[in-house]
Amino acid sequence: MKKDDTTIILAPLQGFTDVTYRNVFSDHFSGVDEAVAPFISTMGQMRLKPSRIKDVNPENNKKLFVVPQILGNIPKDFIFLADHLYEMGIKKINWNLGCPHSKIAKKKRGSGLLMYPDEIDAFLDTVVPKISNTLSVKLRLGRKSKNEIFKVLYVLDKYPLDEIILHPRTGRQMYEGTSDHDAFEKALHCSRHPLTYNGDIIDLDSFHAVQKKFPHIQRFMIGRGLLSNPFLAEDIKKIIINKNKIELLKDFHDDLFAGYQKIFSGPAHLTGRMKGFWNYLGPSFKQSKKPLKNILKADSIAKYRDMVTKIFNADPEFIK
Ligand SMILES: Cc1cc2nc3c(=O)[nH]c(=O)nc-3n(C[C@H](O)[C@H](O)[C@H](O)COP(=O)(O)O)c2cc1C
Repeated sequence: MKKDDTTIILAPLQGFTDVTYRNVFSDHFSGVDEAVAPFISTMGQMRLKPSRIKDVNPENNKKLFVVPQILGNIPKDFIFLADHLYEMGIKKINWNLGCPHSKIAKKKRGSGLLMYPDEIDAFLDTVVPKISNTLSVKLRLGRKSKNEIFKVLYVLDKYPLDEIILHPRTGRQMYEGTSDHDAFEKALHCSRHPLTYNGDIIDLDSFHAVQKKFPHIQRFMIGRGLLSNPFLAEDIKKIIINKNKIELLKDFHDDLFAGYQKIFSGPAHLTGRMKGFWNYLGPSFKQSKKPLKNILKADSIAKYRDMVTKIFNADPEFIK
């Protein structure tokens, strides 16, 4: 298989990979081919949350192709949202069957539905014929057990799907342990649909390990690995960058800050969002412990900017 067939998809990361991030990321880095947006919850009573719709509006997403993701288990609400997206020109949507958070799972949403393959079947039986968009599914191995996936894959085989994006952990596991490559392999043999691999690709070694184990997989979804190393997709695709990495990161940071400054009204909201990124990016700098702590401690925009200027001016070494 040719290396250039590799497709890299930015994972949905609620609170991180929104439209602002996706556009600023695309201005500064390459190698990522498409994105799945963080989930939009169905709301019921024919309601929509305008800010969530704006996030996936193709008008605002001209730099990176985006597939909106829907979280929900009520067919009529899902169809209502899918139709609205279709009218906006959105041809592909994704269904979230992976969210591990117990509050959501308890309501049989996200990974909470994986224990109920008959309900997945009934949902798809109603939804698929009624929506004009094509559908993909993002899921985990199960809610409690990694064996739940087999019945779910059996059900999914009945329906036309663009792809199945599998993160090989259970919902209960949250992010503990490692992605289960053997379980992914078993799933691969039990589905007629194309599978996309997702989970713990954090550097070239982990990417190559997945590629070696699954030589026929062409589509890889990466989340946290891209937050901590925005050059990762370029590295994977061997895209040569001629500029200094620290300068590129600084420019990226400044544009991200400016982007969020336009939409967040309160300073705490703005610095809170930026600190979220630093939690991932910070440890990628050599000797980052103290400067990172100072950034995370900053209680005003002025202090935050001061600390960020300090970390960049110290000419840190990016070790990813
Ligand atoms: C902060 C955070 C938010 C997430 N939000 C979503 C989401 O909205 N929809 C979804 O399907 N998965 C979500 N995920 C899961 C990721 O998309 C991905 O499956 C997971 O992080 C494993 O991939 P990675 O190891 O490359 O990060 C989220 C994960 C994190 C850490």
